[in-house]
Amino acid sequence: MNALLEVANLEKSYHKKDVIHKISFTIYQGEILCFLGPNGAGKSTTINIISGALGFDGGEIKFKGQSIDQNVTQFKEKLGIVPQNLALYEDLTAEQNVHFFASLYGLKGQTLKNGIDFALRSVGLTGHRKDKVNTFSGGMKRRLNIACAIAHQPELLIMDEPTVGIDPQSRNHILASIRQMQQEGMTVLYTTHYMEEVEEISTRIIIMDHGKIIAEGSKESLKEVSGEKNIVITLETSENLHTDCFYEIEGITDVKTLDQQLMISTIQGVENLDKIISSLLQQQQKICNIEIQSNNLETIFLDLTGRSLRD
Ligand SMILES: Nc1ncnc2c1ncn2[C@@H]1O[C@H](COP(=O)(O)OP(=O)(O)O)[C@@H](O)[C@H]1O
Ligand SMILES: [Mg+2]
Repeated sequence: MNALLEVANLEKSYHKKDVIHKISFTIYQGEILCFLGPNGAGKSTTINIISGALGFDGGEIKFKGQSIDQNVTQFKEKLGIVPQNLALYEDLTAEQNVHFFASLYGLKGQTLKNGIDFALRSVGLTGHRKDKVNTFSGGMKRRLNIACAIAHQPELLIMDEPTVGIDPQSRNHILASIRQMQQEGMTVLYTTHYMEEVEEISTRIIIMDHGKIIAEGSKESLKEVSGEKNIVITLETSENLHTDCFYEIEGITDVKTLDQQLMISTIQGVENLDKIISSLLQQQQKICNIEIQSNNLETIFLDLTGRSLRD
């Protein structure tokens, strides 16, 4: 994996209050890196620093191995920034908005025209190109906000909570277009406090809280970190079920029954499903269904911080 952007020991304080505490991370070419963290974690501050909108107090940022201090203008052309707050001209059409932002990146003539077409197509607004923004729904505005950031075909697309407060259909549309752009070669840094989105699009995750990185990895590897998984077995009936024997099986920490369901908590990585099943068969139980629930990002966050993502 090639590093596209490397951040080392980044520090930022506001009025002497540290909000980013020496964080280090790398964005690799071709990935969708999701920054997951609750409000106030420092996601926007980090993004605003990378995009050059905000200064920083310590650390270093490198783009393709070059420190960005030496090369700010060239670096900025490679980025597409979708800000947390909409930045659109309500009285202009969709096309005119994209035109405006693409021109700021120096696009002209046919390249500009192609860029506008590409951007509007990517977010599914081609049919509304001549419509004024003040006629758009919240979801359409969010999509146009993204179009304005991609007409110049950036190498790194940075998105700050681009789906807050929109309808599920627009959200699905946005997530699908992000995946599409990644498949066409764009690298994406995506911040959100919605773990469902991270589950859906991330190729790698950084969990942030209080200005620090508290965990990093793929969905699968983060889920492995957290200690337990639940096995839920649906039986024809749990009337004559004896549960004591399950505690003799290695890895099992808790056993509960509810109606026809047998719920077993077990330590991750201990292979004991065969023993559980043979114990049930010995008791002549009829198994109707088996479901294995591994941890989700919400429970991982809870494990790491003692707080819910939505606090
Ligand atoms: N302009 C500012 N002045 C003072 N404090 C700020 C400013 N912007 C952000 N903060 C503080 O920095 C911390 C991180 O904020 P932010 O980066 O916006 O978090 P997130 O985007 O994850 O919600 C918060 O405690 C917030 O109150
Ligand atoms: Mg924010």
